[in-house]
Amino acid sequence: MNLIVTAGPTREPLDPVRFLSNRSSGKMGYALARVAMQRGHAVALISGPVALTPPSGAQVIPVVTAAEMLAAIRRQWAWCDALIMAAAVCDWRPACPALQKIKKARAPLSLQLEQTPDILSTLLPAKGRRIMVGFAAETERVTPEARRKLREKGLDLIVANNVGQPDAGFEVDTNRVTLISVAGQEETLPLMTKDAVAARVVQWVEQRRKILG
Ligand code: PMT
Repeated sequence: MNLIVTAGPTREPLDPVRFLSNRSSGKMGYALARVAMQRGHAVALISGPVALTPPSGAQVIPVVTAAEMLAAIRRQWAWCDALIMAAAVCDWRPACPALQKIKKARAPLSLQLEQTPDILSTLLPAKGRRIMVGFAAETERVTPEARRKLREKGLDLIVANNVGQPDAGFEVDTNRVTLISVAGQEETLPLMTKDAVAARVVQWVEQRRKILG
């Protein structure tokens, strides 16, 4: 299969030297790309700014903002069979980023934020036969929120991620997730390395491809 994997955070500029972002290290997305390649798939790894070495042989497409990530996915869309969105896309961005560095003397400073494009929802009308997998990073009501996102974003699978635990979610090497499928099946995995979680997710995508034909 041809897989697009997104990884890492997006950064949304506030001025030329400051941005809004989040704690994503890219480890989960890079593990997915690495495992998918080991299993014989072609991977386009669309990555926000991270400090990781990409798996050798992956086509790496660096991006910064949510809008750039969406545009990069669109350029690969005709090529891909499945999209795995492990990236932590910023939901908001400054509505009017300043062209020059904002001076401290301007304090107090209010920020007006607008929503970034929801990448998965934007791509949904063009889904076709592609398999779309999302992650849901939650700190409370983890599985109900993940089920809502699965439904609203029209996904085949969502990986519910309880990021309120110190050994799972952002930055660490392990994850504790529940896989929730569009068919209503739920599989809660024990604490695992991100490579092991990635293997389970890629296997799920392979099985789904076989079922869909
Ligand atoms: O990078 P690591 O340090 O290894 O951490 C891994 C991780 C916690 C970032 C990752 O496993 C994870 O949970 N990624 C999803 C984080 C997230 O943004 O979740 P969300 O619930 O806000 O978004 C749900 C889904 O919609 C995600 O697949 C997301 O990529 C996607 N999304 C979100 C916002 C947006 N504007 N467009 C989107 O498509």
